[in-house]
Amino acid sequence: MLTISYTEIDDFNDLQDWERKLIDQAKDALASSYSPYSHFRVGAAVLLGNGEVIQGSNQENGAYPSGLCAERVALFYAGARFPGVPIKAMAVVASTAEGLTVNPISPCGACRQVMLEYQQISDKPYSLYMVGQNRIIRVDDIKFLLPFSFTNVNDASK
Ligand code: THU
Repeated sequence: MLTISYTEIDDFNDLQDWERKLIDQAKDALASSYSPYSHFRVGAAVLLGNGEVIQGSNQENGAYPSGLCAERVALFYAGARFPGVPIKAMAVVASTAEGLTVNPISPCGACRQVMLEYQQISDKPYSLYMVGQNRIIRVDDIKFLLPFSFTNVNDASK
């Protein structure tokens, strides 16, 4: 049997300071979204084990498939800037012309694959905060987001 576990946070006052800060940094990243085609802004913030926070936003392109999601922009930059430094937590938010999305944004499949591989090379699982206007979903292990995932690591424990 496969069981996934997540936490729903309905009261933002329940957040610790560092969590609120990380979420605010994901919200700040919305400003740098380049999304003239979808008009859907996505912001991400990745907290690393060395205390650095790497922000990312979705970057679109006239040749549509060339664009990249906010999550992968942030993760790949974290990997390029601080190789080998573990990820501690990540937050993701989205907005339209009407403001922040009501429901928490949930990463696409390709981003989940990338998030999982960075977890596998981190020291332990990290939490993802999927943020909506009034509600946050927190998942404390990326493997819950991608059951039966592809892995090129020949290790059954991963
Ligand atoms: N997008 C993200 O940045 N992250 C997600 O998790 C889902 C989708 C972007 C891709 C595209 O620029 C826009 O949102 C609309 O799909």
